[in-house]
Order: sequence, then C-alpha cells, then structure tokens
Amino acid sequence: MSNEEKHLWWQKDIVYQIYPRSFKDSDGDGIGDLPGIIEKLDYIKDLGVKVIWISPIYPSPMADFGYDVSDYTGIHPMFGTMEDFDRLLKEIHQRDMKLILDYVPNHSSSEHPWFLESRKSKDNPKRDWYIWKDPKPDGSEPNNWLSVFGGSGWEYDEKTEQYYYHAFLKEQPDLNWRNPEVQKAMLDNMRFWLDKGVDGFRVDVMWHMIKDDQFRDNPPNPDYNEKRSPYEQHLQAYTTDQSEVHGIVKKMRDVMDEYDERVLIGEIYLPVERLVKYYGEQGEGTHLPFNFQLILLPWNAREIEAAIDRYEGILPEHGWPNWVLGNHDNSRVASRVGREQARNAAMLLLTLRGTPTLYYGDEIGMENVEIPPEKVQDPQEKNIPGKNLNRDPERTPMQWDDSENAGFSEVEPWLPVMDNYQEVNVKKQEKDDNSMLNFQKRLISLRNNEPAINIGDYLPVPGSGNILSYIRKHSGKEFLIVLNLGSSEEHFTADIPDLKGVVKLATNPEIEGQQIGREISIAGNSGFIAEINA
Ligand code: GLC
Ligand code: MG
Repeated sequence: MSNEEKHLWWQKDIVYQIYPRSFKDSDGDGIGDLPGIIEKLDYIKDLGVKVIWISPIYPSPMADFGYDVSDYTGIHPMFGTMEDFDRLLKEIHQRDMKLILDYVPNHSSSEHPWFLESRKSKDNPKRDWYIWKDPKPDGSEPNNWLSVFGGSGWEYDEKTEQYYYHAFLKEQPDLNWRNPEVQKAMLDNMRFWLDKGVDGFRVDVMWHMIKDDQFRDNPPNPDYNEKRSPYEQHLQAYTTDQSEVHGIVKKMRDVMDEYDERVLIGEIYLPVERLVKYYGEQGEGTHLPFNFQLILLPWNAREIEAAIDRYEGILPEHGWPNWVLGNHDNSRVASRVGREQARNAAMLLLTLRGTPTLYYGDEIGMENVEIPPEKVQDPQEKNIPGKNLNRDPERTPMQWDDSENAGFSEVEPWLPVMDNYQEVNVKKQEKDDNSMLNFQKRLISLRNNEPAINIGDYLPVPGSGNILSYIRKHSGKEFLIVLNLGSSEEHFTADIPDLKGVVKLATNPEIEGQQIGREISIAGNSGFIAEINA
C-alpha cells in the first residue's frame, strides 16, 4: 500500500487485548466483568490505545474459559447483561475507540443447543452440524487425529455409537463448516454483533476451521521430542490449514464487507509463507492474520532481524502487516525476554511497521505468576501436566494498585495476584516518570503522532551482534531505531552515509536529546529512537 493512500483505523491504531476474567471485577465475585471494563476505559484511552479486543464474553460452561460458547449471541451473566454490553460499546464509541469481539467458529460448547440436538440421534436435523464418524471395525477411533489439549481428538458417544471430533476439549465439539446451514447460522451470528455496531472480530483458531474430507491419518512429526505436547507427535497435515479454509474465510470477510470499515483478524499459528495466504490472493481474506513471530522466536537480534525482513518481503501487496508480543496463551513478555529487555520489547512492537497488539498488563511489565498445583485452572495444564503448558501464569488479575487483591477485586480472585503487586501496579507507575507505564505511554504517543513510525515505510539497517536496527520513513521524515538485545554495551557502525540524528525517545531517558552519528555505542538492554537526516 502506498503512503498516499488513506490508512484505516485498524492499520494505524494499537489493539489492546483484555482477558475479561482478569481485568477488573466490579461485583465482588473475584472474576472480571463488563462494568469493570467500563470503569477502566479512561485508563485505556489515556494509554493512547484506541482499539480494544475482548476475549470471549458469551454464555459458556467455562470448560475452556469462554472458548466453549453455548450461545453465540448472548452475554455470560458472570460478565454482565446485554445492557452492560450495549453500554460498554456506547462508552467505547463515545471515546472515539473501537471494540473487537472474539469469535469462536471452529467449535461450540458441548452444551450448545445445536450440539445437544446433534447428539440425540443419527437422523437428527442437526446431526451433520458437527463431525460424526463411525468407529473402525474394531471399535477404535476413526483415525489418529489428536486433540490439542491431550489424548484423542475423537470422543465416543454411547447412545448413537459414533465418535465426534474435537480439536480441543471434548466439551468443544468441532462444527462442520462444510455444511451450508452451519455456515449460514454462524455468519448470521457475526451479523448480530456487527448490527449492534461492533467494529470487528478476532477469529479463534481460524486455520482449524476445515478438516480433510477423506479423514486421512496425520503423518508422524519426525522432529517430535517428549518435552513437547503429545499433540505435536503428528504433523497436522489433514486437520488444519486445508485449502478449503480460504473459502470460509472469504465468506466471513464478505460479511464484514457488508458493513463500513470493520476488521477481521485471524488467530493463525503457521509459518509465514502459509500465514500470508490468509490475506487472500486478491486481499479477499482476513485483514490481519495474526503474526506471532515475536512470541515464537528466540530473543536474538539476528533471528528477529531475518524474520522481520522475510515477513516484510513475503507480504502480498494488499497485505497490511501486524505484530503481537503477548496474549492469553503464551508467556508474559517480561518473563520470556527478561525484565531488563521488557522496554526494548515494547519499543520493537511499537516501532515495527504494522498494527501492534498489546496484551493487558504488559504495559506495566506484569510477569508470569507461579500457580500452586491446587489453584491450577487451565484445562491444558490439567490434561497435559508437567510440560510447561499452563496458561494461568499469564492470565492473572490486572495489578491496579497496592490495596488488597491489587485493586482488581474485593474478594480473592479466581487466579492469584502476583506477589509483586505492591511494587508493580498502575497507580504507583502513574506517579513515576520513569516507570514502564510512562515509558510505554511516551512510546505510544510518539507512534500515534509521527506518521513515519505509525504508517511509514520500513527500511532494514543491517545490524551486528546483539543490535537490531531499522528505519521508519514517511514524507521526508525519518527515524532510526536501534535496540541492543544483549546485556552488555555494543558498538555498532550504522551503514548509513553521513548519518546525523537526535535521540527522541530512549529506554534510558538520560540519552534523549543526544546527537548520534554512524558510530553508535549503546548500553546493554537499551534502545532508542532517533530522528535522522532532519
Ligand atoms: C485459541 C484460544 C485459546 C483456546 C483455543 C481453543 O487458541 O486463544 O485460548 O483455548 O483457541 O478455543
Ligand atoms: Mg465480577
């Protein structure tokens, strides 16, 4: 996309992910809720973030904490009422902000009325809404497909003597997206929220939606090792990323296009060359296929540099980039890269070209919280213990202040609050000019106000050692970003003739205002943004 074209809100603005159970509890049940989010909208606005994505808030038995939906057009009473939702949306729009909902099309809850019907009998009209198969002659599973959350992907149903497929928990049966009735019902559910004025969806496990129609066995993964989830024993050749999925994505996109300027984001964990296919050949796919490389790559300047350049190079012309640093399924960034590198990580996320997604709490440097065995909630950890697959550590209550339960709730929260909350909390950081929170606010404000950083071109600057460097450029204005991903001082000669610049923002504010040239010395664990060639 050329710089002359108009950029849309979802290209310019930062997405902030709220895990609603853990953001703010307003009714004293220890679980976050919609009125709690409303209370904190000014905080989010003040951060400089304009787009909020909320993980599922629909009625759900909560086997997978909302990713098991039993009513796609309702609100779970634990989170509030539909009136609360309408008020939330209104308050968000009044602040000139946008709301993105999570949509979970791959599977419903086993308590969804559709599944309750489907499992009644083989000739029930809803039978084919899910994926049912006969056992093999010996009574065993129809094929070798596994569940992401451990064990077989097939669950036997005594009553009708068939198996149903579930890529996740057995309480999350996969919908049969090959069935036109399912497509219609699910697309209509999207329209329900779009009609209300919701600005877009983050589509859960988009690459899972269609499975092989011949139900072939998945091949073994030659690189599997026992430390990994048993799910990784197979290559998902026949269960995910099937070519027909793009047709379904296009149908979803067509629904979005019935409305003005809405956004479709896809959760897709795939290598970049397969990921970018989800934009659609002519841009008829998802607007933003989530790019998780910053989560998945080792924190290594050379590897990250190569990955950025490759991603930039492989993006189709119609594809707008995006970057994600953390979410509710992966380690907190401050724990993954280390506290010392957390500011660099934020600087990287917010200066790369493309829409950034920021996970709640990362703006204050929240870390993984160790969960005692008796407090474990995550079904993935319960089913596959001991493989470091627990997602509770990154889902703990937002640390608002130093009062009991970190100001999240008046009662003991559903997951423990981190024991550092008296030091690491919003209230304290708001008062400290040099806090992580104020650093991130300055970074966000620079990004929002400088088109070069917001929507400008990306130009690689070959780094060396632990140095990652690049330029962002727009209508004559240029910024050089230099990040030292190592812990000791580095000297770096930027390959830019006659380089002259002034540091505008740095992880260490003392160097702001300093002049730079080609020969750059940069302290360990630090980074800066300099305006150059002004
Ligand atoms: C997605 C969600 C994850 C959930 C899974 C099944 O990966 O992000 O939290 O458990 O889908 O819905
Ligand atoms: Mg509550």
